[in-house]
Amino acid sequence: MKVLVIGSGGREHALCWKLKNDSRNPEIFCTPGNAGTAQIGTNLPFSAMDRAGIIRWSKENRPDLTVIGPEAPLCAGLADALEAEGFRVFGPCKAAAELEGSKEFAKEIMQAAGVPTAAYAVFTDADSACAYVRERGAPIVIKADGLAAGKGVTVAETVEQAEAAIQDALGGAFGDAGNRVVIEDFLPGEEASILALIDGEHVVLLASSQDHKRAFDGDRGPNTGGMGAYSPAPIVTDAILEKVRTEIYARTLAELRKRGITYKGVLYAGLMIDNGQPSVVEFNCRFGDPEIQAILVRWEGDMIPALEACIDGTLSDDLITWKPEPAVCVVMAAGGYPAGYEKGNEISGLDEAVGQAVVFHAGTALEHGRTVTAGGRVLSVTALGTDLRSAVDNAYAAVEKISWKGVFYRKDIAHRELKRS
Ligand code: AMP
Ligand code: GLY
Repeated sequence: MKVLVIGSGGREHALCWKLKNDSRNPEIFCTPGNAGTAQIGTNLPFSAMDRAGIIRWSKENRPDLTVIGPEAPLCAGLADALEAEGFRVFGPCKAAAELEGSKEFAKEIMQAAGVPTAAYAVFTDADSACAYVRERGAPIVIKADGLAAGKGVTVAETVEQAEAAIQDALGGAFGDAGNRVVIEDFLPGEEASILALIDGEHVVLLASSQDHKRAFDGDRGPNTGGMGAYSPAPIVTDAILEKVRTEIYARTLAELRKRGITYKGVLYAGLMIDNGQPSVVEFNCRFGDPEIQAILVRWEGDMIPALEACIDGTLSDDLITWKPEPAVCVVMAAGGYPAGYEKGNEISGLDEAVGQAVVFHAGTALEHGRTVTAGGRVLSVTALGTDLRSAVDNAYAAVEKISWKGVFYRKDIAHRELKRS
């Protein structure tokens, strides 16, 4: 069996690792991949957005399954294009991926479906947007409508900050993605992520997780793609999960269906939980990074049958079981991230770190036989433990063996839950 994974981050290395361990022992290809995926399979030279290159390679090499990792190719219609050529693809079609590609679309679907989410309005001109913010007051949240690589959201604590964020977005700071801004009420509470596999009809929730979006300890500093995660997130109780299933997934999918859109793949609901009530902060049309690293090490047995069931419309709960042990993922980043950072620094200690933890590569490359940094988020070090404390200790024991010039990471991953336990 041949499996092609599209993308190059920690998520994609974790997917390659999990898929390679399938009992069918597939041959893994990853494009463009990183130094970690190169150890599992064959890296290909096509960027995730190189549709023509990916289709050409697929026609020559006939992969049995293609898994699309990042949102940009999904929102650009890569799944549709590969399916039109007869390939089996895990990932939503372009119309369904709009749930992430346009925040306005996602809000409109949620509002029509009665999904709990913050009240909102959409603007294309700064004067009306600023007038709305002044009327509504702060805190308030300003979001670029389109894909902005996690940078398009400002949680404004004052009206002045909100007005500045509006001017930025509508002034072109995020390119076309910011031509429209979604302005949302601020939701209080604690965040958690629920991802679900969907086969067009059936929904299977994956294990819960919690990300750490801010760059620095104590949830300070700028928002990032995610600096670490743990799974499960006990704040997501069974009662909350039931609400997520019925009030969020069932209603969203029914509304999409009404509009002739079938969702197949994974749908990520970023939640704000307040007094036992989950509300949707965002939808993503793909696996969360770094959440999926923590989730995948807990996934018992094969993953390929569940992905194939999403394609075939035969998804059921019994295709997935979870290890009871909690997992923790610590992201090691390049100094300066999420703003400017250096590339090309040699990473040492990777061999010594192997043991209790799995070191998933994100922004790494091979240069003359050396592994060097090649991105902002460089590694996601992931470990299981008998309890959350030991999972944290196992992950950090490995993290401390690895270094490069300028490395930084959060030292408090899982702090909220550790304080509670
Ligand atoms: P998003 O990219 O939409 O997930 O937003 C990035 C981050 O901004 C989220 O993870 C939240 O921490 C925060 N955020 C977004 N929307 C809201 C909201 N309506 N209320 C409070 N915080 C929010
Ligand atoms: N970790 C958040 C995301 O993948 O969007």
